Amino acid sequence: MFKSVAVVGATGAVGTIIRQLLEARAFQAGAFKFLASSRSAGTQLTFAGQTYTVEELRPEAFDGVELAISSTPDEVARDFIPDAVRRGCIVVDESGYWRMDPKVPLVIPEVNPHAIDRHQGIIASPNCSTTQMVLAMKPLHDAGRVRRVVVSTYQATSGAGLAGSRDLERGTRAKLAGEDFQYELFAHPIAFNVMPQIGSPKHKGYTSEEMKMVLETQKMFEDDTIQVCPTCVRVPVTNCHSESILVETEKKITVDEARRLFAATPGIVVMDDLDKKIYPMPINCDERDEVFIGRIREDISSPNGLAFWCVSDNLRKGAATNAVQIAEVLAAKR
Ligand SMILES: NC(=O)c1ccc[n+]([C@@H]2O[C@H](COP(=O)([O-])OP(=O)(O)OC[C@H]3O[C@@H](n4cnc5c(N)ncnc54)[C@H](OP(=O)(O)O)[C@@H]3O)[C@@H](O)[C@H]2O)c1
Repeated sequence: MFKSVAVVGATGAVGTIIRQLLEARAFQAGAFKFLASSRSAGTQLTFAGQTYTVEELRPEAFDGVELAISSTPDEVARDFIPDAVRRGCIVVDESGYWRMDPKVPLVIPEVNPHAIDRHQGIIASPNCSTTQMVLAMKPLHDAGRVRRVVVSTYQATSGAGLAGSRDLERGTRAKLAGEDFQYELFAHPIAFNVMPQIGSPKHKGYTSEEMKMVLETQKMFEDDTIQVCPTCVRVPVTNCHSESILVETEKKITVDEARRLFAATPGIVVMDDLDKKIYPMPINCDERDEVFIGRIREDISSPNGLAFWCVSDNLRKGAATNAVQIAEVLAAKR
C-alpha cells in the first residue's frame, strides 16, 4: 500500500474520473491529496465520504507523497514531474509530454505490463485514441502479426477536456436558439459539424494527434515497422471515441477467429450482430471501462485485411481507467 497518494489535475475531466475510480475500486492508501491550479485551490471536494480541500500544485506538495496520478496539460507535466520524482514520488502521467521519452515506459496493462518494471519514476499512459486501437490490435498482433493499420477516428468533445464539453453544449444551445456563439476552445463550430483536425500540424500533413497514434503504437508493441495511417476527426458527441479500423496482418485472420480472439482478451467486449443492429456506439459504451468492438468483417479489397468498428470511453479506458490500472499494478508490487 502507498502511504500517500496525490491526484494531480483532480478538478479536470480526467481527474474527476480518476477520483471516482479510486473510490469505486477501493484503492488503498494511507492518505490522499488532490492538487490543481491556483484557480481551484481552496475549493472542496468529497472523496470516500470525506471532504478534502484542493491544494495548489507546488513542489512541496509532493513531500512524503509516494504515488501521483496526474492529468494536467503537457507543459504543466513537463515542469512539475521531474521535481516530484526527485522527491521520491512515482508519477503515472496522462499528459502527452513524457510518452515518447525513451526512459519512460508507455503502458496499457493488458498489452505491455512488463514495461512498468523499467520505470525510473515516471510511467506514461497513452493518448486516448491510441489506447483503444492498440488494445484491439493486441490479440490480432499476437495471432497474426499486424503489419499495417488504417484508422479514422470520430472523437468526442470530452477528449478536449472540460472546455471541449462546454463548447459542444453551449455551441449547440446557441445554434438552436439562432444566437451567435464564440467558441472557447475549438477553431470552428463543433455543433452540427465535424472537424478533420485534432492537434497541430506535425509531420507530412498529419496532425500531432495522428502522429501520437503512429508513434505510441510502435513504442508499445516495440516494433517500429508497424505502419499506421490515421485520420483524426472531432465529432459533436459528448463522450466516447469511435474508430473505424482496418488491420492487415502477416498471417490471415478470419472473422470467426478475430471474434474469438477479441472475446478472449481481457478489457475487450464484442458487440457484433449487424442483422439485429447490434454494434458499439457512444451511447452504449459511456461510463464503461472496456473497449467495445463490432462490425467485424473481412476486407474485401485486400487478402489479409480485417475491418472493424471500435468504441471506448475516452475518459475511462482512454485515460483514467488505464492510469488507475497502472497504479494498481504498482500497488500490488509493494
Ligand atoms: N480528456 C481526455 O479524454 C484525455 C484522454 C487521455 C489523456 N488526456 C490528457 O490528460 C490531461 C488532462 O486532460 P483533461 O481532459 O482532464 O483536461 P481538463 O479538463 O482541462 O483538466 C485539466 C486539469 O489540469 C489542471 N491544471 C491546468 N493548469 C494547471 C496548472 N498550471 N497547475 C496545476 N494544475 C493545472 C486543471 O486544474 P484547474 O481546474 O485548477 O484549472 C485541471 O484539474 C491532458 O494532458 C490531456 O491531453 C485527456
